Amino acid sequence: MSTTIRIFSGIQPTGVKHLGNYIGAIRQYVASQDDGHPFICIVDLHSITVAHDPAELRESTLSVAALLFAAGLDPERSTVFVQSHVSAHPEAAWLLGSVTSFGELRRMTQFKEKADQQEFVSAGLFTYPVLQAADILLYQTDVVPIGEDQRQHVELTRDVAERFNARYGETFRLPRAVFPEVGARIMDLQEPERKMSTTGGTAQGTLLVLDPPEAIRKKLRSAVTDSGRDIVRSPDKAGITNLIEIMSVATDKEPEAIESRYDGEGYGTFKQEVGEAVVSLLEPVQRRYEELRSDEAELRRLIALGAENARAASAPTLEAMYERMGVAKP
Ligand code: TYM
Repeated sequence: MSTTIRIFSGIQPTGVKHLGNYIGAIRQYVASQDDGHPFICIVDLHSITVAHDPAELRESTLSVAALLFAAGLDPERSTVFVQSHVSAHPEAAWLLGSVTSFGELRRMTQFKEKADQQEFVSAGLFTYPVLQAADILLYQTDVVPIGEDQRQHVELTRDVAERFNARYGETFRLPRAVFPEVGARIMDLQEPERKMSTTGGTAQGTLLVLDPPEAIRKKLRSAVTDSGRDIVRSPDKAGITNLIEIMSVATDKEPEAIESRYDGEGYGTFKQEVGEAVVSLLEPVQRRYEELRSDEAELRRLIALGAENARAASAPTLEAMYERMGVAKP
């Protein structure tokens, strides 16, 4: 087994990706190419656990792939692939389902939150974290770059891996979640007490990576702040704290530097400048995205290449799982 660190993360192809996904996760995937070879999985099999439109899912799977490459994932230094193209994922999930308890799954906060939003709560939504554990463990992953909301799922993955190793012999490496120092939880711009999300947030408060510049400026200009005047991070200033974090990431400066730079300035000026900074941050990504979308054959070629790499990388672990569990394969 190679000694380079193994990096794995997943992203759903539902909805259009938002600034929270970009800051909390995609940026980290790109940066991780300096530390190792990241496997980044577009998790379409996770997205079917809630009501969805098949045509939209098909389209957004390609769209997210293009976005990942546009953000800077290099097909030579990373493996970007679609979950359903690698059948080891659902197979491993079935096997791991036997070492995951009902009680563990019932405690998952993402399940509780999502179940509350559904008319029909599928069994797939309940067992979703088992598939996530399979994703991660199949690649002997060391590091999982994620946003704060996925912390519990990676903790469960470690517990499941430890249980499997204890019952059937050492099979999996134990993965560790890593979070960005700033921006692990980007909040809704209109309701800064809740996280930015295309499924659970407000339309005006969710800044999409592909929003045109005018929409970006408008959403930031109308971001909800408090009635004070100081541009400082504080638990009772959720809106301003969020904007400081966004500005910090967009300009690559420490949050403290943003606070001193805007000391004495009004909220209006600050929000306007955050708008400009985010436009500059996303503009090159949007441009590359458009280029990639105009060459669908090339995009499909890159995804097929990713699937091939991912199949080869995951096959030995799946085989070991079957064998250790005593499941006879021909
Ligand atoms: P998903 O598609 O909801 O989100 C993708 C990534 O974006 C992060 N994120 C955020 N970060 C900061 N602020 C926010 N407001 C925000 N919203 C989302 C998420 O933490 C995530 O890192 N279950 C996962 C997908 C998944 C996965 C995996 C992740 C499937 N298998 C294996 C890691 C490893 C999900 O639904 O992410």
